[in-house]
Amino acid sequence: LAAGNYGFYCRLHPNMRGTLTVTGGPGGVGGDRQRFELPLAVPRTVRDAHVRLDMRRTQSRMLPSGRRTTAWTYGGSWPGPTIRRPAGQRTLVTVANHLPPRAGSMSMHLHGDHHASRYDGQPTTFLVRRGMSRTYRYDLVDDGKPAPGSFFWYHDHRMDKTTRNNWMGLQGMFIVEDPREAAAGLPQGERDVPLMISDRSFTRRNQLGALHEPSMVHGGHGEHSGHGEHGGGMAWTGPHAPPNDASVGNRLLVNGRVAPHLRTTATRYRLRLLNSSAFSSYNLALSNGRPFTQIGTGDGLLPHPVVRKHILLGPGQRADVVVDFHGLAGKNVVLKTVPRAKRIEGTGSRVGNLLQFRVRGTAADDSRVPRNLPTPELVRAPRKISMTWDFSLEGDEESGTFWAINGKAYDADRVDHRVKLDTVEAWRLKNTSDITHYVHLHQLQWRTVSRNGRRPPPWERGLEDTWKLDPGEQIVVAAKFTDYTGPFMVHCHMLDHEDHGMMATFRIHR
Ligand code: C2O
Ligand code: CU
Repeated sequence: LAAGNYGFYCRLHPNMRGTLTVTGGPGGVGGDRQRFELPLAVPRTVRDAHVRLDMRRTQSRMLPSGRRTTAWTYGGSWPGPTIRRPAGQRTLVTVANHLPPRAGSMSMHLHGDHHASRYDGQPTTFLVRRGMSRTYRYDLVDDGKPAPGSFFWYHDHRMDKTTRNNWMGLQGMFIVEDPREAAAGLPQGERDVPLMISDRSFTRRNQLGALHEPSMVHGGHGEHSGHGEHGGGMAWTGPHAPPNDASVGNRLLVNGRVAPHLRTTATRYRLRLLNSSAFSSYNLALSNGRPFTQIGTGDGLLPHPVVRKHILLGPGQRADVVVDFHGLAGKNVVLKTVPRAKRIEGTGSRVGNLLQFRVRGTAADDSRVPRNLPTPELVRAPRKISMTWDFSLEGDEESGTFWAINGKAYDADRVDHRVKLDTVEAWRLKNTSDITHYVHLHQLQWRTVSRNGRRPPPWERGLEDTWKLDPGEQIVVAAKFTDYTGPFMVHCHMLDHEDHGMMATFRIHR
């Protein structure tokens, strides 16, 4: 585990919980001697109207020394290539499954995008079987018009296996380019860097650790044995391994590498931050105390930039930010994750260093962050709430517990809510469990109408698809159901929770 305080929580024994403090050892994440040895890997950009991604096993350099790590990748790298496409231009992505037999069938989801149901990455249908391929079609339109500039990501969504398949590396980024955005003068080209933040554990031979490894506490006390080798490395011990419900790694990675560095100039940079972890959340900050200027979510720009010292990102969430390195030539700045102000038990909030910027030399910079950003239009929210989705823990200790929505575990054959095409609906999302969840709605980009009865904070005034819901919180969101019909999902993006029942279906019909 990375250094920090962890709340722990056991799904099968909900009353077993507590706090665990892990300190960084030599070379461990957060250790003083962190050297940021590896250069940041920037995945290759693909701009083709028809992209082909071969899912296969790949060896890649994730740790600074020793063997390379085997991953399952889209197109030979983790993250897979960054797909960049103009808004409104149809994009086909053909995905072929060349993974080993135990991988089974796959299903790819483009998170944040609005597309036909059969291309949504359904967990049990329209699968990509081994040796076969499937073509997904993304029109990049919304209500017949070009979609807003966005920062989406693609990842596997297979029933019960989403955690494993993402952990193994089936993840990549997708940027929708909007000409209005290009005209705004934001940093571009090599000063527009997508950053996928994630965590993994590794074996002594640098291979991805088994998922049940250091994740959950059994027997109420997490006994741990330090491995020495990786500093803060640890393993749970107990009479038998409980089912895994918190896939947390002991190393923090950016674009698939542990603690990399990036050489920059003393200019502004646009960073597209994505948390692709299964379970962990990151409270991002810069080591020199300078703030981020948040300009967007993953679903388009905010109406106005928001200056923030910390940005908390849970699984599946994105933040589009500008950082300013002016006056810092010759200095290093570290992107790190710091403790959350509000501590919630059982939520994988991480502490440690993520990425070092080596600011070297000045350069011309004509970028700017305009006061008013070209933001997507917001729908008028109806007064009536047509659906409430309640996220909870169900069952009991004897018969076992499961994560649920409206009291039920996911069932691919059940439709939980029906919506008519071309209507606007307001939904309530509420958390009645006692840990935080990050709730994702497929298919639409939503306006956040209220958070706990109040106007949402400034960074939630654009469009969103994944929200933090602390225990007891509730939000109201609204969207217009346009263009496509069929079933789509609602789920917690903590992938362990998703795989363990916290998912439901809404269906759009004519
Ligand atoms: Cu990012 Cu249903 O997923
Ligand atoms: Cu959850």
